[in-house]
Amino acid sequence: MFTAIIFDLDGVITDTARYHYLAWKRLAEGLGVPFDEAFNEQLKGVDRMGSLDLILKRGGLDPALDERLRLADRKNDDYRQLVATMTRADLLPGALNALESARAAGLKVGLASVSKNAGTILERLGITTYFDDVVDANLIKRGKPDPEIFLTAAQKLGAAPAACIGVEDAAVGVQAIKSAGMLAIGVGDPVILGQADRVVPSLDGFDLAAFLKEMATRR
Ligand code: BG6
Ligand code: MG
Repeated sequence: MFTAIIFDLDGVITDTARYHYLAWKRLAEGLGVPFDEAFNEQLKGVDRMGSLDLILKRGGLDPALDERLRLADRKNDDYRQLVATMTRADLLPGALNALESARAAGLKVGLASVSKNAGTILERLGITTYFDDVVDANLIKRGKPDPEIFLTAAQKLGAAPAACIGVEDAAVGVQAIKSAGMLAIGVGDPVILGQADRVVPSLDGFDLAAFLKEMATRR
């Protein structure tokens, strides 16, 4: 019996994954580091400094901490410019329906995002009130694939990990959900998200009520 569902934000609820990609690509290429969609997959779900370190490593660069912080700030400024004009129209298809279905099914609804911009994005999308609790990078020590963020969300929602469903678009995110002992729904490519219990191409058309029913008959 599931009592809570915990959503990732970027790439699940809204396509900010695209904006992170564009902002990192601009920074990386400015540093002479090649950047494409395949490499970007490794950054999905990874926090800001962790993502920057992967880019620098790829380019064989090792700047001092103050320069790394400056580069991370530059990327974040670009990213914030890209997301500044977002509205509810930027919700991914099926996202709002999934949030509403979760409520209708009596589940607690949480957000687990390593983005320090998560609160701003929820506000821009006008969906803050759909969440009983939000856990972002400011509340955790270890990013995904560590389970800390999902376990913290479960605790805040008062749900046992085994009674939680996690929803993710990143491989490290699915890993975090599974390490937390939760059921994982992957949104995206089944080859990349192979560790998930169920992979859907998008939340569009995903019938949460039917999924819960199916899971209940399996247990
Ligand atoms: C994750 C994204 O949700 O947040 C990553 O998948 C991003 O791509 C990370 O780097 C950190 O986001 P922010 O907004 O704190 O730079
Ligand atoms: Mg994501």
